[in-house]
Amino acid sequence: MGGEGKKKKKNLVIYPGSFDPITYGHVNIVDRALNIFDKIIVSVAINTTKSGTFTIEERVDMMQEVFKDEPDVEVDSFSGLLVDYVRERRAQAILRGIRTVTDFDYEFQMALANKSLDPDVEQVFMMTEGKYLYHSSSIIKEIVSLGGSVGEMLPPIVEKRLGEKLRT
Ligand code: PNS
Repeated sequence: MGGEGKKKKKNLVIYPGSFDPITYGHVNIVDRALNIFDKIIVSVAINTTKSGTFTIEERVDMMQEVFKDEPDVEVDSFSGLLVDYVRERRAQAILRGIRTVTDFDYEFQMALANKSLDPDVEQVFMMTEGKYLYHSSSIIKEIVSLGGSVGEMLPPIVEKRLGEKLRT
């Protein structure tokens, strides 16, 4: 265990996801995780079989804007296996947010898959705060496409770009 004089290791965590687009629910997880970890890499998974609403570049660009005043948050993207990316970035853990029991099932399956791929990987889960419970990217997209207001769910730049994307 860390004795005196031993340099403290910086806690680096990877927060992966589709972020199509990033919501205040995601931002809340990052804000709270900053109280625990020294640095967070919020990273967009490049999924070649699933085309999203936004391109990877558009997602990364919006996220860089959202976290521009946060020096301990890096925005990145990755392809391939998450566990390989975690090793490559020398991170200590994977961070994911959980909203509902349905999320839990999905997260548990992914966590087991990741653990079987790399037994050394650690995975940390944070419960979403109640007010963000219904903030799913797909529900938000439906509201926007039907002309509803989502100012409480999305950072301004994301709300603007999603409106442009879905209403033109
Ligand atoms: O925001 P999402 O869509 O729920 O994020 C899912 C994500 C990106 C975390 C997951 O699909 C993932 O880890 N993709 C990388 C590929 C991988 O490692 N798959 C095997 C473990 S599930």
